Amino acid sequence: MRSTRSARRFVVALPVALVALGAGLIALGLSTRPADAGSEDAGSSQVQVATSVCDAQRLKARQAEDPRLQIEIPKQFDTPWPTLSACQSYQAAQDPSTPGPLQPIPFSHKHHAGKFEIDCQYCHSGTDRSPSAGVPSVELCMGCHAQFPTTYDTEFEGIRVLKQHWDEKTPIEWEQIYRLPEHVQFRHNRHVRAGFDCQTCHGPVEEMDKIVMMEETHWWPWLMPTTSPEMGWCINCHRENDGPSDCYACHY
Ligand code: HEC
Ligand code: HEC
Ligand code: HEC
Ligand code: HEC
Ligand code: HEC
Repeated sequence: MRSTRSARRFVVALPVALVALGAGLIALGLSTRPADAGSEDAGSSQVQVATSVCDAQRLKARQAEDPRLQIEIPKQFDTPWPTLSACQSYQAAQDPSTPGPLQPIPFSHKHHAGKFEIDCQYCHSGTDRSPSAGVPSVELCMGCHAQFPTTYDTEFEGIRVLKQHWDEKTPIEWEQIYRLPEHVQFRHNRHVRAGFDCQTCHGPVEEMDKIVMMEETHWWPWLMPTTSPEMGWCINCHRENDGPSDCYACHY
């Protein structure tokens, strides 16, 4: 059973309310504007000119839905790469109004692990053999991205940041999301070898543009909620799956 904390619900509700307010104001503005824009037909017959590859991808998608829409794609933006889905994921990964921290590069798991089905352990290769999962190196990203057309550099600031780290040989300072206090011991390899999927503890990562901590609430017999990754969450699963319950198994 999953549940979101009410605080988070508020954080989500607030931007939604703001967007609704914004939409209301725009609607108001439109309805009070003099009819100088002409008839509706004139509006849709206006040619929309793409200003970037991603803009071109969005216009092409809109035209596929509404064939009356007239679009013009300048030659330098008329390329299949980056795809519409890469553009959308990139945008969603840098949306400050959705839960989860913003990363130095708007890297999308939905795009890499979801659409392109890159294996979790290809990038988090530590999980099966070392205590920590680790984040991939700049070299690993460049293994693919060095071969991409230059349109990626012009479309995505994040790809320029990636290449800058590559040139300067500096690691990317990713924001950490799952982090236990120093006095707790957790090893990935034992859990992965015991057969648990990443998703058991991290949720449907392959559907997330931006990573959000999975908060799973369990109700203990005495009706106290415990949320991952708090102690009760660990102990709860250890009880159900014959994991250790001794304090010193998890605490030094
Ligand atoms: C196995 C190949 C591969 C690796 C490794 C890889 N990428 Fe990608 N990346 C892709 C592909 C494929 C696309 C999208 C192509 C498309 O749809 O246009 C992409 C798209 C992107 C995008 C734009 C969409 C988005 O996710 O925001 C960014 C930014 C990006 N990658 C950054 C990274 C970073 C940073 C790393 C290293 C942590 C990395 N990539 C590792 C293959 C890879
Ligand atoms: C192409 C490389 C790549 C692939 C494939 C990938 N990840 Fe990641 N992962 C990253 C990068 C880069 C970060 C750090 C940036 C971020 O949080 O988005 C990260 C962060 C994470 C985090 C948060 C780490 C923290 O700080 O707590 C989790 C959890 C995670 N990945 C799980 C997964 C799972 C599960 C899969 C498979 C479904 C997966 N990843 C596939 C590159 C990858
Ligand atoms: C039994 C629960 C569990 C499973 C299964 C699990 N994780 Fe984790 N993961 C955690 C916890 C707890 C942390 C925080 C660890 C810490 O702070 O020491 C974490 C941290 C991480 C991090 C942050 C960086 C790091 O090195 O600690 C990444 C990335 C990650 N997990 C990826 C994965 C991937 C990929 C898989 C599947 C191959 C996976 N996890 C399976 C519980 C789990
Ligand atoms: C999804 C179920 C599950 C969750 C959640 C879980 N564990 Fe475990 N854990 C297990 C199982 C099962 C074992 C026994 C594995 C074995 O014997 O190989 C285990 C073993 C361990 C061990 C002993 C093996 C070792 O690595 O030394 C430690 C320590 C441990 N878990 C810590 C934690 C901590 C800390 C958390 C919470 C942050 C946690 N676990 C969350 C299922 C889980
Ligand atoms: C399965 C692993 C596990 C076992 C067994 C375990 N703990 Fe913990 N404990 C944790 C984790 C994880 C945290 C950190 C929780 C957090 O960050 O919210 C923690 C935190 C704590 C804290 C600090 C509380 C706080 O608010 O920061 C104390 C005290 C503690 N444990 C005592 C114990 C005692 C006493 C036992 C034995 C009865 C025990 N623990 C058994 C995983 C475990």
